[in-house]
Amino acid sequence: MSEWTKSSWRSKPRIQMPDYPDQAALEAVEGQLARFPLLVFAGEARRLKKHLAAAARGEAFLLQGGDCAESFDQFSSDAIRDTFKVMLQMAIVLTYGAKVPVIKVGRMAGQFAKPRSAPTETLDGIELPSYRGDIINELDFSPEARIPDPAKMMRAYTQAAATLNLLRAFSTGGYADVHQVHGWTLGFTEGEKSEKYREIANRISDTLDFMSAAGVNSDTAHTLQSVEFYTSHESLLLEYEEALTRVDSTTGKWLAGSGHMIWIGDRTRQPDGAHVEFASGVQNPIGLKAGPSMTPEDLKALMAKLNPENEPGRLTLIARFGAGSVGEHLPRLIKTVRDEGANVTWVCDPMHGNTIKSSTGYKTRPFDSVLREVREFFAVHTAEGTTPGGVHFEMTGQDVTECTGGVRAVSDEDLSDRYHTACDPRLNASQSLELAFLVAEELSSRRSARQDQATG
Ligand code: PEP
Ligand code: CO
Repeated sequence: MSEWTKSSWRSKPRIQMPDYPDQAALEAVEGQLARFPLLVFAGEARRLKKHLAAAARGEAFLLQGGDCAESFDQFSSDAIRDTFKVMLQMAIVLTYGAKVPVIKVGRMAGQFAKPRSAPTETLDGIELPSYRGDIINELDFSPEARIPDPAKMMRAYTQAAATLNLLRAFSTGGYADVHQVHGWTLGFTEGEKSEKYREIANRISDTLDFMSAAGVNSDTAHTLQSVEFYTSHESLLLEYEEALTRVDSTTGKWLAGSGHMIWIGDRTRQPDGAHVEFASGVQNPIGLKAGPSMTPEDLKALMAKLNPENEPGRLTLIARFGAGSVGEHLPRLIKTVRDEGANVTWVCDPMHGNTIKSSTGYKTRPFDSVLREVREFFAVHTAEGTTPGGVHFEMTGQDVTECTGGVRAVSDEDLSDRYHTACDPRLNASQSLELAFLVAEELSSRRSARQDQATG
């Protein structure tokens, strides 16, 4: 086996990456990015890894969420704030259900490059290369817009840096205060249709009141007014990733400095391919998407390559099979992990196996399918005696109409109102929070069942 370097992916088969027509321009951008500061620090990535290890043991729970594809056009402080805000609301509700700390990881500050199911798109008889995310080309349906342009990497870097700057400020500057965040949630449960969530919300209020009365409040407890918030994205555009990969002086190990956690997509997880090669040599926590085509042999090879030392928290398996299919696929992967004695953190992505075309022609995801997949994921883990470590959602804090259903029901006809995603449909703020309540109920009943078992 040849030795890993941050460039060794270049000698492996690559897919889902652009062929830049202007090589000189590409090299100039890579050179410039390689001199720019990293966006995240190694100590932060290591800390996240410890938290993910705790999630694998059932002592923490991961909430990973954000856009399918971040966009240059829709970049604004309001959009970042709103997604951050709803994730914090969800985290409080989930903490209440799970009774363990919730690890907050945004699909933010780097989630720009997209794998596509086909290399070209045809519209009105015209065939053009597919859109691959704002870091590569443009959504506009014209031949010029679809030419991969390396200069877009600079813009993506700048946007990612500004996004992280804002997230860091929101995390510690008072905005994340638990009382304020819970106050927003009470606003949601005041709605007539969300009444069924009021009981949990009231119980959280009581808990906060009790803590205040006992002297634990935002003035005395730092953890009530600030949060740890991490970033993640699919490590797809490897020229960008390589340019931001450096040696961490504390450990001498390599760090992908573009985000805290990076993941490998379901389409680019070939054990001998470029994407797995790149991820294998960096110390970040690595996510690995697992769809219906993941075989035990693939998974074995991937675990050996991505986590040879079996380090807890290093590898998160993000299952995305689709509602109705979890029972068919997840058990064989759980068995493989068990047979290998491997440490992995199990996470459910109930989005990517549930994309359908609506009667009005929009790509959408029904809220009920999303919920159903999460429930099936929990049920399989209960049956197998393993630990569900978290959830992974495509969501936004904006009031979009991209997924159908939820208490403020979005119908097929409503989809055209505010359908803004550059790629896959996202849960809106209300749907995201509602889902958190439902997952919290699920976590809570799982806990009671386990306690009954322990005492019964
Ligand atoms: C995604 O997370 O946006 C994605 C493309 O997922 P997957 O690789 O699981 O299809
Ligand atoms: Co997506």
